[in-house]
Amino acid sequence: LARGTADADLAGRHVVVSAGGTREPIDPVRFLGNRSSGKQGYALARTAAARGARVTLVSANAALPDPAGVDVVHVGTAVQLREAVLKAAADADAVVMAAAVADFRPAEYATGKIKKRDDKADPTITLVRNPDILAEISADRARPGQVVVGFAAETDDVLANGRTKLERKGCDLLVVNEVGERKTFGSEENEAVVLGADGSETPVPYGPKEGLADVVWDLVQERLV
Ligand code: CTP
Ligand code: CA
Repeated sequence: LARGTADADLAGRHVVVSAGGTREPIDPVRFLGNRSSGKQGYALARTAAARGARVTLVSANAALPDPAGVDVVHVGTAVQLREAVLKAAADADAVVMAAAVADFRPAEYATGKIKKRDDKADPTITLVRNPDILAEISADRARPGQVVVGFAAETDDVLANGRTKLERKGCDLLVVNEVGERKTFGSEENEAVVLGADGSETPVPYGPKEGLADVVWDLVQERLV
C-alpha cells in the first residue's frame, strides 16, 4: 500500500491534522504535559501537502518548524485544540487526530506561582476531564462523508484495545502503535496497525513516519466520496 496512488490524489481536498501534545497549566510556571514530539502529525501534514491537499495543521507545543505550504494554527491546551480543530473541520474532507490530548486538566489555575510553605499542608491538584475531541468530531460530522482518523498508543493487548477504542470513538480509522523502547515517542520511525471501522486491518512495518503517513492518506483517500 505504500504510495501506490497518483501524486496529486488529494488535490482539491482540505484535510485537518492535529499534532503534538497539549499542556494543561497548573500555575504560571508549570503544566501537565506528555511526551508527544509532534513528528508523526507533522509527517502527516507534509505528506498530505505533497499529495496536493490544502492542509490545516493544529499544532500543540511541538518544537518543530512550520511545514512549507501548510496553514499552521498553534495551540496550548486541549480546550484550545478542540476549538481550532472544530473550526478547521467545518469544511474539511478528513480530520486526523494525531495529537496527544490530555485526558484531564487541573480544575483550578493558580494565578501566582504555587510556593512550598512550612505552615501549610502540601497542595493537592484536583483534575477535571477534558472534552473528547475525536469522539465529538466522529459523532457530529461537519460534512457528510468526512473521514475521521484517530491514533492510539497502547502497551498491552494492542489489537483488542485498539478495536474497542475504535468502536468507542466512532472514527473510521484508528492507527494503533505499540509503545515500547525506540518506538513512538520522539523517534523518527514508527510501526503500527491501522484498524478500519469496516473491519480492515493494515499492518505498517517499522519505518519512517512519512511511510505510515502515506498509508494513512491511502486509506483516507479510498474512503473519500
Ligand atoms: N483524543 C481526543 N480528545 C481527548 C483524548 C483523546 O481527541 N480528550 C484523541 C487522540 O487525539 C487520539 C485518540 O483520541 O487520536 C485516542 O487517544 P487515547 O488517549 O488513546 O484515547 P482515550 O479515549 O483517552 O483512552 P485512554 O484512556 O487509553 O487514554
Ligand atoms: Ca487518553
